[in-house]
Amino acid sequence: MRSSAGPRFLVRSSPSINAEELKPGVRCTLNQQSLAIVELLPTSFDAQVYGMELVDSPQESYADIGGLDPQINEIREAVELPLKRPDLFVRIGIDPPKGVLLHGPPGTGKTLLAKAVAHETNAHFMRVVGSELVQKYIGEGARLVRELFDLAKKKGPTIIFIDEIDAVGASRTEANTSGDREVQRTLMQLLAGMDGFENRGDVKIIGATNRIDILDKALLRPGRFDRIIEIPLPTEEGRLSILKVHCRSLTIDKDVDLAAVARMTDGKNGADLRAICMEAGMFAIRKERPTIMQEDFLAAIAKVGLDFHRGPVDVEGAMFA
Ligand SMILES: Nc1ncnc2c1ncn2[C@@H]1O[C@H](COP(=O)(O)OP(=O)(O)OP(=O)(O)O)[C@@H](O)[C@H]1O
Ligand SMILES: [Mg+2]
Repeated sequence: MRSSAGPRFLVRSSPSINAEELKPGVRCTLNQQSLAIVELLPTSFDAQVYGMELVDSPQESYADIGGLDPQINEIREAVELPLKRPDLFVRIGIDPPKGVLLHGPPGTGKTLLAKAVAHETNAHFMRVVGSELVQKYIGEGARLVRELFDLAKKKGPTIIFIDEIDAVGASRTEANTSGDREVQRTLMQLLAGMDGFENRGDVKIIGATNRIDILDKALLRPGRFDRIIEIPLPTEEGRLSILKVHCRSLTIDKDVDLAAVARMTDGKNGADLRAICMEAGMFAIRKERPTIMQEDFLAAIAKVGLDFHRGPVDVEGAMFA
């Protein structure tokens, strides 16, 4: 057998292994000292095993996203239109974008947006997380990426969502440690994967990162991520629509002024706003009120503001306060 590090070995297998199953191409684990085969691993394409969430179609829709209308439009044009109306692109003769990269601060809805696109297109949705590729599946990152693209091609219309892509896509410096080399192999495989499929094909890639500054330029080249979409912190107007989204299923008192809540939450992201709505609900429950009142929102803003201090300055302040 060949080990993942490269060298080949002639090995025995432990008595618990069914010799019939030992066919060329199967993957297995070896005892570190004796090198005997101790376990057979699931075959390739068993993607779920490797933590790629193969959600056939996520539940989130565009209606669940507040305040990102221009970004939604842009991603629809780049991802949804080519999947739904490939004929338009054929007629005009341009290659549709292969992928879009979403970037912006944490908690602003990047993951949410990617899921909503998949929901709206009825495409298969595969999600890999960059940091998991390099940390959880050590030595396997490149192979996983290859399998991911193979699987996507087989499945038909698919959106491959690579979250936290900066973990594999940081710019290539001198690779000193084997860990660095591993990350680079994974990145090279990703680039090869993106180059390797037909433009008019059914595979679209959505990447997300909050560190676009450290990404390798090769990823941002046209023909890979053709569209770079910024997802900023919400404006006051954006915060109001996000609050409305998250209050839809809540029982809110008629006197609650969400616009005022939006005004008071400058600098908060979508995830904070959702937390504020939940906390407001909790305050109402503790008081055994029939509806959520404005004062519950005020208490929630104070609470979430304390819990979620962000940025180096705030963190220091909180630590030494
Ligand atoms: N624009 C938004 N509209 C409605 N809800 C939002 C919005 N942004 C964030 N949220 C809420 O916050 C949660 C977390 O957002 P999400 O996971 O999409 O953030 P992200 O941008 O991917 O952050 P990160 O960079 O940390 O991965 C969402 O599930 C949603 O409930
Ligand atoms: Mg995310």
